[in-house]
Amino acid sequence: MHLRTATPDDVPSLYDLWDRAFDAPLMVPVYETDDGRLDRTHVAVDPLHGGVVGSVYWTPREVGGPDCDTLRAGGVANVATAPEARGRGLVRTLLSRAVEQMGRDGTDVALLFTGTPDVYRSSGFETFDVPLRRGAPRTLRDAATRAVDGLAAESSRPHAPGDAPSEPGAPPSGAADDAPLTVRTDRLPGVPWPAWSVALGWEQLARLHGAFDVASGGPRPLATRRAAEHWERRIPLWYSGAEVFTARAASGEVVGYLVLEPGRDPLKVRELGVDPAAERAGEVVDALARTTLQRARHHDSPVVEVRLPAHPLTERFAAAVLDAPTPGTDTTGMLRPVRTGADVVAGLREATAAGVGFHWPGDYL
Ligand SMILES: CC(C)(COP(=O)(O)OP(=O)(O)OC[C@H]1O[C@@H](n2cnc3c(N)ncnc32)[C@H](O)[C@@H]1OP(=O)(O)O)[C@@H](O)C(=O)NCCC(=O)NCCS
Repeated sequence: MHLRTATPDDVPSLYDLWDRAFDAPLMVPVYETDDGRLDRTHVAVDPLHGGVVGSVYWTPREVGGPDCDTLRAGGVANVATAPEARGRGLVRTLLSRAVEQMGRDGTDVALLFTGTPDVYRSSGFETFDVPLRRGAPRTLRDAATRAVDGLAAESSRPHAPGDAPSEPGAPPSGAADDAPLTVRTDRLPGVPWPAWSVALGWEQLARLHGAFDVASGGPRPLATRRAAEHWERRIPLWYSGAEVFTARAASGEVVGYLVLEPGRDPLKVRELGVDPAAERAGEVVDALARTTLQRARHHDSPVVEVRLPAHPLTERFAAAVLDAPTPGTDTTGMLRPVRTGADVVAGLREATAAGVGFHWPGDYL
């Protein structure tokens, strides 16, 4: 077996391998957003027919560290062995070559998501926990009552840092001096992307995402620091099966956004963006919670899944959306040290288990 990085000539048999191993229509389009992909794709090539029979790909990301710092992470994906070559340690060998290359490249930790963690344990990866909640969607009437009650209750206690101050006792639409917020549907699945336009530029979402992805004054642990090229190239692909909504002030300014992955069971909340320091942040969250309930009703979804980082605003969102939620844990993520010590990975695992550390679904690769 020849072990090396991929060349342009390998691409047809590489894509054929992935086509046979995965049912993942976004795999190749997302892979092709990475200009340096072939040099980080480790392949096993059959010396007889020259076809690719094994692959491991990784891509670099800047992510939040456990202590308000940033780390270089290597995201591992597209891991496959052809059926006739399985069970011979091929993927273990390719992972080891990929991790060696990450080390030479200055990578601190390796990160992946999988439904089969046992493939990766012998290569030094450990799972990390991400808390989530699932529950039946509240009725819209119930949510509206809770929003008014929430504002009344809020007036009787001091504001915690990051909390959304609101006008005491005022109904949601009349809070502060501004006109009511509106929520606009910016895209539904099936509409060809790119949808960034004059009406919705990615910069409007990036500002809110950046403001929300802060924990203890530094970058949120494990969250990818999204650069312009991410917003322009791969985020639209990740959102291509999603619904995107924006909350707008009367001026048209985007003050919040919501990404939902529609499905009957469950409807998944993939992303919530709001500036926690904004005066109307609580009101924005309530408006986006009502939109979530409208979409749950539209899709006839009996269950909504809220997987968001821990924050008073996401607590408020979950409380407005879910009736009698059941806590759960997403254990599909795995980490291993590359150039850092085990303590750094332990710190990241602790942060994600507490819900402070987080990796958004749209950032994996
Ligand atoms: C999973 C897959 C990549 C394994 O490839 P492989 O070359 O046979 O794996 P290896 O022989 O190197 O085995 C590596 C380890 O994975 C384990 N393993 C292999 N297939 C596994 C599976 N389906 N589930 C759980 N563990 C598995 C092996 O027992 C071995 O464990 P060990 O190192 O503790 O002894 C291959 O079966 C495949 O391509 N499957 C379809 C695509 C897929 O599921 N990719 C992974 C998605 S995250």
